[in-house]
Amino acid sequence: MSSTIKISPSILSANFGKLGEEIISLDKAGADYIHVDVMDGHFVPNITIGPEVVKKLRPCTKKIFDVHLMISPVDQYIKSFSEAGADIITFHPEATPNIEKTISLIKKQGKKVGISLKPKSSVDLLTNHLEKIDLILIMSVEPGFGGQKFMPEVLPKLKKLKKIISEKKLKIDLEIDGGINFENCKTVKEAGANILVSGSTIFKENSGNLKKNIDLLRSG
Ligand code: DX5
Ligand code: ZN
Repeated sequence: MSSTIKISPSILSANFGKLGEEIISLDKAGADYIHVDVMDGHFVPNITIGPEVVKKLRPCTKKIFDVHLMISPVDQYIKSFSEAGADIITFHPEATPNIEKTISLIKKQGKKVGISLKPKSSVDLLTNHLEKIDLILIMSVEPGFGGQKFMPEVLPKLKKLKKIISEKKLKIDLEIDGGINFENCKTVKEAGANILVSGSTIFKENSGNLKKNIDLLRSG
């Protein structure tokens, strides 16, 4: 795991009418990754975007597309999101009947593999797969919507995973997603997160000054 903090702004809080321009602005503002929340109205109650939109956004930046799939069943969409330009593909273990198979489908496309845990999902869901994954995304809100309140009860899970990863000397990034703001960003880093996702803080604080908000989350 890299010790430098990376910021992955979620375009869920961007203006969907001009996503391309928003991504160019995030790139200029110093975003490390671009977090793309894909929702299907089934695994989560909200619906967002599909592979065709990701494909059209791909030329806007060379930054890493950090694609968070909140869709079920997930396997049948991995190829299309890969071909659309995803770099990291993160799925929820509850969205597949066979976690091993989903991991290999992502690897077969040459993409980095992430597994995401909802606030109530146990670490046990992924302990057998640690050797094969690149990233763990800890949800600190119930997936589905931006602008929700951070759930501090997920911090012990983050610390536990950090400890397991360090003990096993694994190279797994720990990403936290949901309700991240200037007040809690230090706490989540101290608990072990090295990638911070943020939608509403980046797009709405300080009159939408993306650079200032990204810098504050990174350094705070
Ligand atoms: C929620 C998404 C998050 C969300 C983060 O299901 O996975 O990425 O957009 O938005 P904020 O930072 O507003 O909680
Ligand atoms: Zn997300």
